[in-house]
Amino acid sequence: MKARFVAPFGAPKNAGSDLEAFLAAVSETFPVQESRRRYLKEDVLTLWRDLTSERSLRFADYLGKPSALAAYVRYFMAWNVVRLVPVLAGLPLDPPEGATILDIGSGPLTLPIALWIARPDLRDRGLRILCTDRVRKPMESGAALLDALRLKTGGPVLGDGAWRVETRHAVFPDTGGPGKADVVCSANAFTEFFWSASARRDSNLGERAAVLLSDLAAACKPGGLLFIAEPGEPRSGAMLSALREAALLSGLRVESPCPHARACPMPGAFGGLGDRVDGKARSALPPVHSPKWRPKMPWCHFPVPLDTAPSALTRFSEEVGLPKERLTVSWLALRKPAVGDRAPEAEQKGPLRTRLVSDPIRLPGGWDGRYACSDLGYTLVVGAAAREGPGSLLDLDRPARISRDEKSGAVIAGP
Ligand SMILES: C[S@@+](CC[C@H](N)C(=O)[O-])C[C@H]1O[C@@H](n2cnc3c(N)ncnc32)[C@H](O)[C@@H]1O
Repeated sequence: MKARFVAPFGAPKNAGSDLEAFLAAVSETFPVQESRRRYLKEDVLTLWRDLTSERSLRFADYLGKPSALAAYVRYFMAWNVVRLVPVLAGLPLDPPEGATILDIGSGPLTLPIALWIARPDLRDRGLRILCTDRVRKPMESGAALLDALRLKTGGPVLGDGAWRVETRHAVFPDTGGPGKADVVCSANAFTEFFWSASARRDSNLGERAAVLLSDLAAACKPGGLLFIAEPGEPRSGAMLSALREAALLSGLRVESPCPHARACPMPGAFGGLGDRVDGKARSALPPVHSPKWRPKMPWCHFPVPLDTAPSALTRFSEEVGLPKERLTVSWLALRKPAVGDRAPEAEQKGPLRTRLVSDPIRLPGGWDGRYACSDLGYTLVVGAAAREGPGSLLDLDRPARISRDEKSGAVIAGP
């Protein structure tokens, strides 16, 4: 089977050194005396316990505490930047000169900082980076951090062609003003309230996704891009799959990572927004082949290569007792239609555009395999094409007939 490469997934060449520069900028912007280092490690562990506990129990403005913020930037933010860079590098993101990028739940500007590293070609584009958060202090510190990084890595900091950073204290869905942005984005913020006990009491997953979509779309210009990234956990996968279905049903286009506009074959715990059949929620989108039933259904998430992670970050994580052996991400990029745009097509024709998703697997007979997504549904790519990295987008030959892997239920593509 022939595979034509459409888009790789990975960080740009400058990422390794720019991530080192980011860590140096963190040390300058948030200096910690040697005698306080022990407390810093304890603060990271305390924050980790808070962040991984039931989210509704956490103090909403936790990043307003200086010790928590210093811990956040050194561990959580640093890994979030490593996680976001390859995703942002592969997005169809080409904001015009003067465009506004709105980052919701910006914290210490993690997403704009990751964008700076991921897209050096945008560094001298005069963009307005509008950051909003329910807590002001982390954004102010993040703006100083971005400035320090800009000085270390090149690109204008002042004047024409420089990014203009504005911060606004606002609790989403309020974005602090009526204006619409060319790009509306958010990283690691929506799971903070999407799954809260009160949100779950008031509405189901599909209803919450429809409201979130309408709030996001309201902040975006026609023709603009919406981008949401979350850690690759089951809840994020279900939330993003629900948001995707709500978006497609409202006429938005899915730009990434999905290679089609049919039902999501990896929705995790999300059933769908269609009619219930035998008491089960189903997708309202054209059907695809789903995985075989299992207690934990696959959710869409991607392993991120750890090769660009600075060794100092890896070392610090080990010292803290939270070594990072695996990093995963889930994301969704949507295009809001402009006047005259056609609705997305859901036809199964042409080459089989396939997004590799899982870690590699070894199949009987010594074949390489990787679970993937295509317009046929849950797909098992077998053979040489499965050796490309997770996140890669490939065009494969469309199988002449459907054969399915007995164990997983995936449609087999190749060899
Ligand atoms: C886990 S941090 C993520 C920060 C940053 N985006 C990152 O990726 O590292 C979540 C952020 O969302 C903010 N946040 C949570 N709920 C919010 C809301 N309803 N409106 C605005 N900001 C919110 C928090 O204050 C916090 O800064």
